[in-house]
Amino acid sequence: MTQTPRNGNPAVAVVVLAAGAGTRMKSATQKTLHAIGGRTLLSHSLHAADTVDPSLIVAVVGHGRDQVEPAARRVGEELDSDLTVAVQSEQLGTGHAVQCALPALAGFEGTIIVTNADVPLLTGETLAALSAAHTEVPTAVTVLTMEETDPTGYGRIIRNDAGEVTAIIEEKDATAEQKRVTEVNSGVFAFDAGVLRDALTRLHTDNAQGELYLTDVLGIARADGHPVRAHLAADARELAGVNDRVQLAAAGRELNRRTVEAAMRGGATVVDPLTTWIDVEVTVGADVTILPGVQLQGRTVIADNVTVGPDSTLEDVEVGEGAHVTRTHARQSVIGPRADVGPFTYLRPGTDLGEGGKLGGFVEAKNATIGRGSKVPHLTYVGDATIGEESNIGASSVFVNYDGVDKHHTTVGDHVRTGSDTMFIAPVTVGDGAYSGAGTVIKDDVPAGALVVSGGHQRNIEGWVQRKRPGTPAAKAAEAAERAAEQQ
Ligand code: UD1
Ligand code: CA
Repeated sequence: MTQTPRNGNPAVAVVVLAAGAGTRMKSATQKTLHAIGGRTLLSHSLHAADTVDPSLIVAVVGHGRDQVEPAARRVGEELDSDLTVAVQSEQLGTGHAVQCALPALAGFEGTIIVTNADVPLLTGETLAALSAAHTEVPTAVTVLTMEETDPTGYGRIIRNDAGEVTAIIEEKDATAEQKRVTEVNSGVFAFDAGVLRDALTRLHTDNAQGELYLTDVLGIARADGHPVRAHLAADARELAGVNDRVQLAAAGRELNRRTVEAAMRGGATVVDPLTTWIDVEVTVGADVTILPGVQLQGRTVIADNVTVGPDSTLEDVEVGEGAHVTRTHARQSVIGPRADVGPFTYLRPGTDLGEGGKLGGFVEAKNATIGRGSKVPHLTYVGDATIGEESNIGASSVFVNYDGVDKHHTTVGDHVRTGSDTMFIAPVTVGDGAYSGAGTVIKDDVPAGALVVSGGHQRNIEGWVQRKRPGTPAAKAAEAAERAAEQQ
């Protein structure tokens, strides 16, 4: 299904560079497809791009294109934004990458913002501030800069005696004096489209890396007499690039710090922010308590007054108001309001626990709807089932859903009481208000209000162990018990 993307601001377009090899990641996965906070680096950068409401986003892909291109298109659809993929088949430098984006921008007159897909912490607010600074006074090139106590690896911002930016010099091309400059290029720019197009035709590879540097556009524009400026970012942490897995973890930690802080500002108590991990698309309500060791992942939604943890992982789980979830692993499930889950409980996809329901210790559920007020308190597997309201499933029961070839469904009515160790051999239906005895194997449907039992009367074969297992510890124990009984 293709829909017409919404129209953005006709004066702004964003180019996101994602064609580099990212060799320092040492990965079969292209660098920008590594994820933090539940989103790939590429997705983070496209989300940031989208917040300035551009009329067009151009993602430049090259290395690992077969992975990166479909990923970029998926995010574009998710954002409902006009996204075009441009291909840079050979990575000849950041300037060359932007050249590859130009055909997609044919006829565009306005501000072209260029960002790198390996800068995942960049916020929309910072991009908007850059864009505003760029248009406030007529400017041809605005580079987003930051102060780094250790500027190693970054391009240095060179200023003249008047404090005006004159050039950006890459680390590998810098003199010892230039290397001491601590204001560096974040890799994010705003360009006047016409100036950028013209300067890109005049780049050269006469530098230490033999590449076409985007950074040279600034110097060329200035030499042509165009106004160029630097916009210093308030928070350098936002502009940290991810080039290896150590930086990936650091960026993930910083992103999580922000997400957890937002949850706390929204009224959640987070007992241990350092062991609480919340993905960016998670929603956390007010008066929620999150105990140590919790991971809230994907599109998980936590309503007000919920307690989660300790030690729980919820992925794409909806938790209703006032529910308690303790030491639980749950995926693609719904936990109703005031329901009680855990400890040591596993909710697999398709579990839907009703209001006030319970899934207790060592219970596993999958593709199962458990009605309002129904309880599965202990040691039970509930697979492919519908349980009505206010029913209770005895300890150690199994919904036997698989015959070795096909999966089958079990339906249990309202107000049912089943005994411990009941086996529901699917497909089978248990009517409203029915009971089962302990150890029942239910193979046929049970009518409403019936008590179902299975298996014959109990038979004790006296002395079997002493005769058939003579000399064993069990036989000796039995003999001792017999002697003790005789002496009484
Ligand atoms: C670049 C800047 C540097 C800046 C730093 C900030 C240049 C020449 N240098 O250096 O001034 O301080 O970013 O992080 O621009 N890419 C392509 N095609 C290419 C080369 C790179 O798409 O041919 C993409 C990469 O995927 C990446 C981005 O451009 O997303 C930056 O490339 P990278 O090689 O990491 O540049 P740096 O050396 O970090
Ligand atoms: Ca980089």
